[in-house]
Amino acid sequence: VAYPEPEKCRRIYIIHRKEITMNVLLTGGAGYIGTHTCIELINAGHTVVVADNFSNSSPKAIERVEEITGKKIPLYNIDVCNVEALDKLFAENKIDAVIHFAGLKAVGESCEIPVAYYRNNLDSTLALLEVMKKYSVANFVFSSSATVYGIPKSVPLVETMPTGCTNPYGWTKLMNEQILTDAAKADSNLSVVLLRYFNPIGAHESGRIGENPNGIPNNLMPYITQVAAGRLKRLGVFGNDYPTHDGTGVRDYIHVVDLAKGHVKAIDYAEQHKGTEIFNLGTGTGYSVLDIVKAFSKVNNIEIPYDIKPRRAGDIAECYADPTKAYEILGWKAEKNLEDMCRDSWNWQSHNINGYE
Ligand code: NAD
Ligand code: UFG
Repeated sequence: VAYPEPEKCRRIYIIHRKEITMNVLLTGGAGYIGTHTCIELINAGHTVVVADNFSNSSPKAIERVEEITGKKIPLYNIDVCNVEALDKLFAENKIDAVIHFAGLKAVGESCEIPVAYYRNNLDSTLALLEVMKKYSVANFVFSSSATVYGIPKSVPLVETMPTGCTNPYGWTKLMNEQILTDAAKADSNLSVVLLRYFNPIGAHESGRIGENPNGIPNNLMPYITQVAAGRLKRLGVFGNDYPTHDGTGVRDYIHVVDLAKGHVKAIDYAEQHKGTEIFNLGTGTGYSVLDIVKAFSKVNNIEIPYDIKPRRAGDIAECYADPTKAYEILGWKAEKNLEDMCRDSWNWQSHNINGYE
């Protein structure tokens, strides 16, 4: 993507940040993206409160965020589907904005236990909306996903392109987008920002926090780092007959710290606007599975043995963002490159072979 110079851009609206500091509730704040976002919010002068039931994370992750930032973080071990527990949190803390990360996120598992996915991922949003209304909290930022574009007809993906899903996880994201859009339509005070993430990888440069999947990783980068660490023997490359430059699947990998910074822009935007806005958070560049394997090997000087396997059901050939809207309206763009992503992923994994254990 060629970024226009700000002064030449027809519809540029970069937020000129007023000195607004907010107290931000991060549901799922102990997770992979949540922990990195806690740090970027604190770096930008905000304060944070975290609600997490640790179904896919550890309280140790928040201790590490406290260690990195030198700030004490109020932490609620609650299920965010529980209205009473949320009510207590909002009564005890003056919340200005909510970033809703909490959710179940494994595509394959969502096909096996769809009801649990719909229950968790939809109830949490509904409970938050009810309690936010009661406490007059007007800013809602939601973790959506590029998966809502379904099987794209063309790439790069623009926010206005048609949506459609291929699995229950994706449907929970799309349904949440609809619920939040309707809520903002009905309540003129409400501001909703829907962030469609592409493929977050990498870790904080300290190597103290990072992605910590349960069991054998489904996603590419944690699989590669576990092969590099000797926990897994060989990577399976799912398909080499896609219509891409080397036959393997192409995705838009984005450094999790860049992604986290996008949330700081999103809460600023929400504070200054009403209604609903959707933004892609991606880099605009697609890399194939073999591009990632080669880059990882080169940057970290570790061979990753791999075998070509059949295509994985439900995978698409290519998925990458047109991130122009986030640049024009939020003044955000990804700054880290593939080398940073490969180095930081390995820095985290190699110093924490068994994650937070
Ligand atoms: P994660 O699993 O590391 O973090 C999610 C956190 O939510 C976990 O700490 C988990 O314990 C918590 N949680 C889940 N259900 C909860 C509940 N009912 N109450 C309280 N806490 C609950 O995942 P992540 O990668 O940080 O993803 C964050 C969000 O971004 C998710 O909504 C995910 O669907 C979305 N997303 C992630 C990716 C990705 O590739 N990582 C891509 C697109 C969208
Ligand atoms: N891949 C392999 N071997 C593996 C794992 C993955 O070859 O062991 C390939 C996949 O086939 C795909 C690419 O690596 O071509 C990326 O796969 P990931 O599983 O890392 O990511 P996906 O693009 O399939 O999905 C991820 C999240 C979804 C989210 C989507 C878009 O898992 O939840 O990004 O944001 F919706």
